[in-house]
Amino acid sequence: DLVSPDSPTQRVGAEPVSAFGIVVHPRPLLSLANAFSDQELDAWYKRITGLIPGQDIDFVCELKIDGLAVALTYGDRIMVTGATRGNGYQGENITQNLKTIRSIPLSVPSTAPAKFEVRGEAYLPKKGLSKLNEERADEGLPLFANPRNAAAGSVRQLDPRITARRPLDIFIYALGWAEGMQMPSTHWETMQYLKSLGFKINPNMARCKDLDEVKDCCHGWAERREELPYDIDGLVIKVNSIALQEELGFVGHDPRWAIAYKFPAVQGTTRLLDIGINVGRTGSLNP
Ligand code: IVH
Repeated sequence: DLVSPDSPTQRVGAEPVSAFGIVVHPRPLLSLANAFSDQELDAWYKRITGLIPGQDIDFVCELKIDGLAVALTYGDRIMVTGATRGNGYQGENITQNLKTIRSIPLSVPSTAPAKFEVRGEAYLPKKGLSKLNEERADEGLPLFANPRNAAAGSVRQLDPRITARRPLDIFIYALGWAEGMQMPSTHWETMQYLKSLGFKINPNMARCKDLDEVKDCCHGWAERREELPYDIDGLVIKVNSIALQEELGFVGHDPRWAIAYKFPAVQGTTRLLDIGINVGRTGSLNP
């Protein structure tokens, strides 16, 4: 309650640039606190159970897709805007670019709320990145270092025809807000409902009845992450009950009811064989 709303610390992420129009998010897109070990998960669990003692808490574990956060707004069953997270309060209007992603429904069935917003992660599958980088190498363009950079670069193209040629995809992970509807009482049911409206939900979500099951899920995916056709950088653990989520609330920009379990960065050793030099348009030499 001591934090003023105009404090510089109240900004999340990078400022949106103005080449695209600005979209004000009616409910901010916030970030997540991180846990880098089981001990940090234990500490999180202790904190939340201390705030809601005696409550039976179950969780949903989701893959943390390494892409770009976007918000899609629908009105009268039609997709109206698609925006980046930006600074959390306002993002860039990238509607035309997001409409090129085939798994984003341009319209939804009549069972959808009159107006609502879904949130998700736009990403480039691993194969898509290799193909795109092969093409870029042929054209002498700099390669994308990882799928996240490639996804971010792809959705922020000024020409949507370029975005349309990139094999982008999306997983929806939350209902941001909705008007004229009774919200489901759990996150799990919300996700099933969004699936019934035609949104692409990650199939690897799991319901966990306690923290031990959560940890098993995290360890399992830490072992198997390479099997996935897209990059993940961890898991997101969410309290399933929406009532308990509301009770737990937020601290700063982070919800208390969710945490990101982050994998250690992948490290490798390699032998540098050669350094190629590209001659840029202006004659600059770029290794
Ligand atoms: S939930 C308030 N679920 O991770 C909770 N986020 O800082 C909001 N992300 O940029 C996030 N996969 O875009 C959630 N299954 C998932 C996610 C996910 C990836 C991203 C999200 C945000 C960052 C969290």
